[in-house]
Amino acid sequence: MNSKNRILQWARPEIVSLKPYRSAREEFVNDGREMILLDANENPFNNGMNRYPDPMQKKLKQRLVEAKGVNVEQIYLGNGSDEVLNQLMIAFCAPGKDQAIILPPTFGMYQVCADINNIETIPVPLTKDFQLDIPAILAAKTKRTKMIFIPSPNNPTGNCFAVEDIRLLLDKFNGLVVVDEAYVEFAQDQSILPQLSDYDNLIVVQTFSKAQGLAGVRLGMCFGDPQIIHLMNKLKAPYNINVLTQEVVLKRLKEQGLIQQQMQQILAEKDRIINEITSLSFIKIIYPSHANFFLVKVDNSSKRYNQLIERGIVVRNPSKNHNCTNTLRVTVGTMEENNALISALCTMDSK
Ligand SMILES: Cc1ncc(COP(=O)(O)O)c(C=O)c1O
Repeated sequence: MNSKNRILQWARPEIVSLKPYRSAREEFVNDGREMILLDANENPFNNGMNRYPDPMQKKLKQRLVEAKGVNVEQIYLGNGSDEVLNQLMIAFCAPGKDQAIILPPTFGMYQVCADINNIETIPVPLTKDFQLDIPAILAAKTKRTKMIFIPSPNNPTGNCFAVEDIRLLLDKFNGLVVVDEAYVEFAQDQSILPQLSDYDNLIVVQTFSKAQGLAGVRLGMCFGDPQIIHLMNKLKAPYNINVLTQEVVLKRLKEQGLIQQQMQQILAEKDRIINEITSLSFIKIIYPSHANFFLVKVDNSSKRYNQLIERGIVVRNPSKNHNCTNTLRVTVGTMEENNALISALCTMDSK
């Protein structure tokens, strides 16, 4: 089966046949002429924000083409990657019928999106050392399994999955492999994005929320086969990325020197925290991390979590996740914040 047919076979028929909303302006605003815009019931008095944003975010996507080495037809943008993940599920999983594979311990939003959309999830746990269990994943899939969600680096464990393992799944799985690279800037050589054009079933999701320091503006990116991106564009709200977000992200794309510096600082701070706390008696394991956080096994996670709260520090207690009993997930902060964390941990009772 050719690639186009394969993708259309995975997608929900309603989305394939959907006639999307089209703004009249889309056809005329970019043909170079200065037009009088009386088509969208806006307030005509210019304040920089009175017009609807470009629905296809052309300027921003053009800059992303250069930054990411992909084609413009391979990019879809959403209101954070949370929204992108939900839209992917809407496009490809029929409610009450299709399934998605998730790999616990994993990012919690995949299950939430599945629940919202009435999609059954098939959990296939990671191995003991938090690697992909390829035979188990392949054994778990059924004819109704449309997608696999793989966060790499993984949240909450922090490790990357081998690109070779992901490629194996891409070859063997007749459905979409969604690689969620929210933290990939911290592990740049591990991105699978350079292989995007080799696979019609690879989707890479990235975000401006983590290394790029723009969690507040909400911009998630989805890279995939143009056919998939076409379907995603059909179901999005017409003006889903606002003017302010597009402007701030365009500016941030010119500030990558600063981001590199910040990332180096964050990674150095991560090493420093780990060095300082590793020999404390209630710290049992610090798992290897490729991200701006790390997972640590302690003697009693509820007790240590509450002790940190008492000292004014909030970390995450993911202990209910598969294979994460008595763990805490700690984000690397500023040097001052990390000093407070280290001093709080170092002054805790050992029992
Ligand atoms: C693996 C993973 N994917 C996606 C997200 C959501 O990111 P965004 O802020 O772009 O919605 C997070 C946030 O914690 C995450 O850890």
